[in-house]
Amino acid sequence: MSDSDEMGRANEMRRAKEMRPAKEMRRANGMPPADELLQPEMMGSEAEVAFEGALRPKSLAEFVGQHRVRGQLQLLLDAATIQNRTPDHILLAGPPGLGKTTLAMIVAHESGRPLRMSSGPAIQHAGDLAAVLSSLVPGEVLFVDEIHRMARSAEELLYLAMEDFRIDIMVGKGAGATSIPLDLAPFTLVGATTRSGLLPNPLRDRFGFTAHLEFYDADELVHVLRRAAVLLELRVEDAALIEIANRSRGTPRIANRLLRRVRDYALVHGGEATRAVVRSALELYDVDELGLDRLDRAVMMILLTRFNGGPVGLNTLAVSVGEESETIESVVEPFLVRIGLIIRTPRGRMATREGWEHFGMQPRNDIAEQLAHKHRPTGNEGARAGTQQLFGDEL
Ligand SMILES: Nc1ncnc2c1ncn2[C@@H]1O[C@H](COP(=O)(O)OP(=O)(O)OP(=O)(O)O)[C@@H](O)[C@H]1O
Ligand SMILES: [Mg+2]
Repeated sequence: MSDSDEMGRANEMRRAKEMRPAKEMRRANGMPPADELLQPEMMGSEAEVAFEGALRPKSLAEFVGQHRVRGQLQLLLDAATIQNRTPDHILLAGPPGLGKTTLAMIVAHESGRPLRMSSGPAIQHAGDLAAVLSSLVPGEVLFVDEIHRMARSAEELLYLAMEDFRIDIMVGKGAGATSIPLDLAPFTLVGATTRSGLLPNPLRDRFGFTAHLEFYDADELVHVLRRAAVLLELRVEDAALIEIANRSRGTPRIANRLLRRVRDYALVHGGEATRAVVRSALELYDVDELGLDRLDRAVMMILLTRFNGGPVGLNTLAVSVGEESETIESVVEPFLVRIGLIIRTPRGRMATREGWEHFGMQPRNDIAEQLAHKHRPTGNEGARAGTQQLFGDEL
């Protein structure tokens, strides 16, 4: 492994710690952890960071799916090379685990530029950002993960830096305060965000290109898994890969994580990873055919049995399953909506006909009648609806 790879890995590890999500807080508050296997966020354990690093594609050609974004990025990089200038600033927006960090690394790698990694939560003062910006070497790619979590004062400093490669450093306070302009080396900012709706417009406007990452379809996930299996020197049947892909919630990070569990299972029980092995392994980990975990199923069962399929408010659902409403709203509900098991109505959440069917149950006649008249999102339409609910309506 090269020095820069190693530094990248160390950087990633540090950032994963800084950004450790709500889960840590849940533990600190004495709450039980939600099922972690299917959480799209990075868990931040050393083993997982190393595992992800090993499977990250290094070039656009290796990056699976997201054809439009890949084509757009390729064009942007090629144009910059022809004109011999730094590529435009790039914003990568989309749900966790779809490849934002991977693409940022690819941008640096493909254009042969050094990469500096930072994150919104680590930039809490304008001074933090000034220190990073003033130490960039010409042409460097600066990756700021979770850029929506950067301090407001730093954001303002960034506007000028992005536009003119210049910052004004304030010295002193009150009437005697003066600003000293400082020229920066030209750089490319790559920002990543899971919540682009939270970015202020002036910041969003300063990116030359915004890539919206979409959830992956099953074929693309099979491709991701096949590539990972080769890298892990794992023999897996095609049927087994399809089985894992179908349970991965459209997310490469989850697909890779499930593959790792399957590998463990095959290792312990001996033999090749067949479809039957996948089924047993994922049954052991409580992941069903659609990728629902224990919590998703608990929410669905309560909705179907106790509330007759709804409509019911999110908070009531959360209390009924003993979970925080934030977890239900940000993790469980978007997925259930995306795969069409529930819909959101002005009066609350309702199970769809597919929702009833997946659990082998029948709605009461009057409810079935109602459902027959409701519009049911399918396929990509459903995927978009789920993405929109999570990330605001700008997607
Ligand atoms: N298009 C892809 N092809 C192959 N592997 C991918 C692809 N996208 C993501 N992965 C794999 O999924 C894992 C997670 O991707 P990545 O860390 O880039 O997600 P992210 O969007 O940055 O997530 P987060 O929002 O949590 O930071 C990586 O280990 C990478 O190997
Ligand atoms: Mg990331």
